[in-house]
Amino acid sequence: MDKKFRKTVIAGNWKMNQLASGVPAYADTLKAGLAVGAQEEVVLCAPYPLLPALLAAVDGTPVRVGAQDVSAHDAGAYTGEVSAAMLADLGVTYCIIGHSERRAYHAESDALVNEKLKALLKNGVTPIICVGESLEQRDAGETLKVVSEQIKNGFADISADEARGVVVAYEPIWAIGTGRTATSEQAQEVCSFIREYLAENLYDWDTSKAISILYGGSMNGKNCAELLAQIDIDGGLIGGASLKPAEFAGMVKDGNEDA
Ligand code: PGA
Repeated sequence: MDKKFRKTVIAGNWKMNQLASGVPAYADTLKAGLAVGAQEEVVLCAPYPLLPALLAAVDGTPVRVGAQDVSAHDAGAYTGEVSAAMLADLGVTYCIIGHSERRAYHAESDALVNEKLKALLKNGVTPIICVGESLEQRDAGETLKVVSEQIKNGFADISADEARGVVVAYEPIWAIGTGRTATSEQAQEVCSFIREYLAENLYDWDTSKAISILYGGSMNGKNCAELLAQIDIDGGLIGGASLKPAEFAGMVKDGNEDA
């Protein structure tokens, strides 16, 4: 099966939730239910001020820590920004980029997302690049066009070798935080399209088969197993449900069984 070529990635996105003081209790509950497969990566993407507490709380476990954004710049006069080198220096190994909330509320362009992707790769931090269409775009039949543009521009000037170190998350905007999950067929259709696009238009099938493609959008303990059973869905980017450690641990188990 194709999935043996790549990792299953179960990634939580806490967004702007949780406090550093709440991290140890969260981690205790998570660890109590945690069973991570050999081909599986478990990641928690937390707000910047929580990263040290989270790194300490999951130390010695297979859980990796990620950030939710990064500066495109190396260093300098960029007030409020956090560089990829700072994340790597802390021990952060993943970082979400191009989340639809940042594209919408902070006017992040594909070109900026591409710069951020390069900054992360340069510093050995694995990018999780988010792509996905709005409801209007889906209703207008533009889903594959929108997603292919985001993929093409996001991967601009990235070699095949570098691309193997990138994780893609397909997150239809209409499914994020709405409780309206894409059906497993809808999610598989777009994830499979992304893999084909990477293989046929940007790289080759060997490279494309090595890239983990996640689904995100109202994924939870109930719908996770069915989504992960799809051949081109290699994991999940999980918002709301990742705030509940017991439920998140259950989703890690689903990923373990699927890998
Ligand atoms: P959700 O968020 O699971 O709460 O829909 C997913 C995401 O935005 O990454």
